[in-house]
Amino acid sequence: MRFALSSAFVFSTLVLEALGGTWTIGDTYIGQDFLDNWTFEAEADPTGGRVIYVDQSTALADNLTYVSSDTLIMRVDDTTTLTSSDAGRNSVRIKSNTSYNYHAVVIDARHMPEGCATWPAFWETNDSDWPTAGEVDIVSVNSVPPNLVSLHVGSTCSMPSSRNETGAPQTNDCDVNTDGNDGCGVENPTDNSFGPDFNSAGGGWYAMERTADSVSVWFWSRTDSTVPTDVSSGASSIDTDNWGTPAAYFPNTDCDLSSVFSANNIIFDITLCGDWAGQSSVYSSAGCPDTCEDYVNENPSAFSDAYWDVAAVRVYTTETSS
Ligand SMILES: *[C@@H]1O[C@H](CO)[C@@H](O)[C@H](O)[C@H]1NC(C)=O
Ligand SMILES: *[C@@H]1O[C@H](CO)[C@@H](O)[C@H](O)[C@H]1NC(C)=O
Ligand SMILES: *[C@@H]1O[C@H](CO)[C@@H](O)[C@H](O)[C@H]1NC(C)=O
Ligand SMILES: *[C@@H]1O[C@H](CO)[C@@H](O)[C@H](O)[C@H]1NC(C)=O
Ligand SMILES: *[C@@H]1O[C@H](CO)[C@@H](O)[C@H](O)[C@H]1NC(C)=O
Repeated sequence: MRFALSSAFVFSTLVLEALGGTWTIGDTYIGQDFLDNWTFEAEADPTGGRVIYVDQSTALADNLTYVSSDTLIMRVDDTTTLTSSDAGRNSVRIKSNTSYNYHAVVIDARHMPEGCATWPAFWETNDSDWPTAGEVDIVSVNSVPPNLVSLHVGSTCSMPSSRNETGAPQTNDCDVNTDGNDGCGVENPTDNSFGPDFNSAGGGWYAMERTADSVSVWFWSRTDSTVPTDVSSGASSIDTDNWGTPAAYFPNTDCDLSSVFSANNIIFDITLCGDWAGQSSVYSSAGCPDTCEDYVNENPSAFSDAYWDVAAVRVYTTETSS
């Protein structure tokens, strides 16, 4: 924090664009809050996955969603054998009712969905204004580690090939209209950012900060000694300047982040197969058997670890200094 508190308040009222740094909490989502303040998007999967997203009452009745005072569980059906004429395996997709422009978000998760064909996501976009409002994929993994962080935006936008991040850039063109919408992606540096190793460590924290200047994503495994205390404690105020070099860093040098992004909702989903995890090359390179769709249809018990266990999502909406 580079400003004294009193000047920080003056400063923040004069500056309209968030620049990163110190933020205070806007919304905290724990347990029941996900039922009250998020929408269950009952629909076929827009990414072509072999799932049907169910409404909240079905999710609760079938225990595909379960909440307690400190836990949100979301999972796919792991008991029903499907035939090829069935529409898909029941699953859950929820989005925050509130949308956020400049903000920082921290997810504390104990477990993420893992297993062949499983493609979990924790991400942000505006469903009714895609791709104009932009998209940030914070967690978007299939059967192969590590996690891939990526941006997808509706117009010209690219990232410098060399930048200050600990992850490995894969592609630098963020425009959905080029390269088959593969986005600009950065692989996390460690395998514990993903399914099995993430889960065996007890999960961890993902954080994303979006300002007019940059989008940054950090990851800390549960037992990392480097996790900042404002992250691990769920503090009401955070200072991203103290979080160290992000895993993925997307600066505005060749991309007008203030125009390619607008207010986004936060989304969790679990799909199976789909546009990415279902590609035969991706699926088979993960060492997975059969075809993706047949595997999903015929092996319900293979999906018993395809669940999210979320302790909290905290959204920091007010920048108090930069
Ligand atoms: C959730 O919705 C309730 C009203 O049902 C409201 O009182 C509460 O502030 C909301 N919480 C969040 C975090 O948005
Ligand atoms: C969130 O949106 C859902 C679906 O529109 C609605 O049922 C629910 O009441 C909303 N929650 C709040 C707190 O407004
Ligand atoms: C629903 O899921 C929760 C979390 O996994 C579990 O603790 C609970 O026993 C389940 N309830 C039923 C009725 O199976
Ligand atoms: C999504 O984008 C549409 C079109 O720009 C806008 O009207 C709407 O308010 C946005 N939704 C949210 C939740 O911000
Ligand atoms: C990279 O970012 C970190 C964290 O913000 C900073 O401490 C470091 O000085 C930066 N390194 C370079 C080469 O810019």
